[in-house]
Amino acid sequence: MRFDILTVLPDLLDSPLNHSIIKRARDNGVAEVHVHDIRDWSVDKHRKVDDYPFGGDAGMVMQVQPVHDAIRFLCSQRHYDEIIYTSPDGERFSQKMANAFSLKENILLLCGHYKGVDHRVREHLVTREVSIGDYVLTGGELAACVICDAVIRLLPGGMGDETSALTDSFQDNLLAPPVYTRPSEFNGWRVPDVLLSGNHALITEWQEREAYERTRRLRPELLDE
Ligand code: ADE
Repeated sequence: MRFDILTVLPDLLDSPLNHSIIKRARDNGVAEVHVHDIRDWSVDKHRKVDDYPFGGDAGMVMQVQPVHDAIRFLCSQRHYDEIIYTSPDGERFSQKMANAFSLKENILLLCGHYKGVDHRVREHLVTREVSIGDYVLTGGELAACVICDAVIRLLPGGMGDETSALTDSFQDNLLAPPVYTRPSEFNGWRVPDVLLSGNHALITEWQEREAYERTRRLRPELLDE
């Protein structure tokens, strides 16, 4: 699977996309992530990609031309299953959406910045708008990283232990059960006996009950979905 990310701040994406599972998945050829600087498509001699909004509001708007040319160029290289604009007014990102994206071949992510992108980009070029939550970030770069991370870890070979993505919170609309590791007692705080019992049927039953109870207590609305 391949992600292309269009941004005005390519350096911001460097660290999150070059560590841990994402780095390993990229090194192993499970996922490709290509970051492109929108300024490379600017026709301005100072590589400017933003301008004042018509109507006189505060803040700057990403111009249509560099974004249009960047998207057109990338689309001439390959077909994109989705061209996603990251924005607080988009559809809310979820595990279900991550699962669906993990089945795609090529995804293009356009990171919003400043006051956002000229609306003509949203009307004519993007196929989808995605928000990672009801709060406003300084730009869409962190949202793009969140989307890449959540999707890449689901890809076959993306994680060391491939079964572990199946036991994540939300994968079956339940929160994950508690996990523990050695030592079995610390400060007088004991790991539940059942986890030390070696009885796998009992352990699974305990984990399912805990997952259900935690969901009921902390996120009851998930049980209605
Ligand atoms: N850009 C700014 N805020 C955002 C959010 N919550 N989700 C996605 N992109 C954003």
